[in-house]
Amino acid sequence: MANKTIEHVEKGLRGTLVIPGDKSVSHRSVMLSALGDTPVHITNFLPSADCLSTVGVMQALGAKVDIHSETELTVQGNGLHGLQEPETILDAGNSGTTLRLMMGMLAPQKFVSTFTGDSSLHKRPMGRVIKPLTAMGAKLAGRAGNTKLPITVIPADKPLQGITYEMPVASAQVKSAILLAGLFAQGTTTVVEPYKSRNHTELMLESFGVKLDYKDNAISIQAQDKLTAPEELIVPGDISSAAFWLVAGSIIPGSDLLLQNVGINETRTGIIDVLLTMGADITMENQRNSGSEPVADIRVRYAKLHSTSFGADIMPRLIDEIPVITVAAMFAEGDTVITGAGELRVKETDRIQAISDQFNKLCPCIEAQPEGLVIHGSDSNKWQQAKCFSYDDHRIAMSLAIAGIAGAGVEIEEPDCVRISYPDFYQQLEALCK
Ligand code: S3P
Repeated sequence: MANKTIEHVEKGLRGTLVIPGDKSVSHRSVMLSALGDTPVHITNFLPSADCLSTVGVMQALGAKVDIHSETELTVQGNGLHGLQEPETILDAGNSGTTLRLMMGMLAPQKFVSTFTGDSSLHKRPMGRVIKPLTAMGAKLAGRAGNTKLPITVIPADKPLQGITYEMPVASAQVKSAILLAGLFAQGTTTVVEPYKSRNHTELMLESFGVKLDYKDNAISIQAQDKLTAPEELIVPGDISSAAFWLVAGSIIPGSDLLLQNVGINETRTGIIDVLLTMGADITMENQRNSGSEPVADIRVRYAKLHSTSFGADIMPRLIDEIPVITVAAMFAEGDTVITGAGELRVKETDRIQAISDQFNKLCPCIEAQPEGLVIHGSDSNKWQQAKCFSYDDHRIAMSLAIAGIAGAGVEIEEPDCVRISYPDFYQQLEALCK
């Protein structure tokens, strides 16, 4: 795709946006439905490249997926023990969630499966999942000392054994992989998190009739005979997609946006807490439940922001939002200090490096740290138009677009990657800026 040129917007952003379905919940809806034995009707599914990678993998494992429209599917599984040996290599594309969760689901199976993915996914660390699964008795073989794609799962000699695993990093993907393996393992499988990460796997397992035990930061699961699938799963809107508008509305004078149907699961709302601390004008309306997840309509109006500091304890609640929070901090008065964010270096790209290399071209005010960022924000910061590279990372591309409309414009190289999580992003942006 050609470069995308985004102009500075002269007026405030005003209007109502319907936020597309949550990526994390969409993945899990298809994965767990494929383990049920009755059809599940999934609505507000996110038809993004990552979630379609999950659909492709589950189809290769024998699940029947009827696509009624882009956002509405019916998944018919073959039961908890009904996954079939895939005839092809399983391609997770750019999706760490697809790969890591599916390694957990496939480790206990009695057939061989091999995973691949795109060049970004080949660079990302998979030892964090291979290690605990191996401790459960699974056999996985990966490149680079069993840490990287391509990865093959070989049937274990005997059933996997439950373990107690203290996770060194707070990661919902690692936690979910272990819990999914635990569905099939003998005894109790317990994961202990250093900080609480998103709990969509736990909530969805519960809506499939699985009883989990919680104690402090530990979650335990027992092997199941079957999953009792719900007839319907409703995917809430994705707060990680709403994040771009929460920041745009906060930093562009005159803005007043209503973001409809946003998931407000407290394991995901770190960005709202941080923006409120910075002085943002954000209110929640019409709070309700959508399936097993809480949602609200969120109103955001322009406000003068000031700097803040935050670190490791809140990180899992806003890890994907750091690029766009950085944009907010560039417009906020004072120095914002972000620590405990080393995980950013192993996302779709090294996001600490991407942020400092590219955002600084638009306004030089960011210092990269080994595990964080310092942003010298100011009203009098000088913004200029520049050509910036997305590194083919969806959240970097969308954050650059918000920096561009609020600053002095931007030309984004490799802009098409928004398809990974937010296919309609540029259309919604253009409609708002008209
Ligand atoms: C996700 C978990 C997070 C997040 C990713 C989606 C998930 O990754 O960054 O975009 O759906 O479980 P980690 O588990 O690596 O922190």
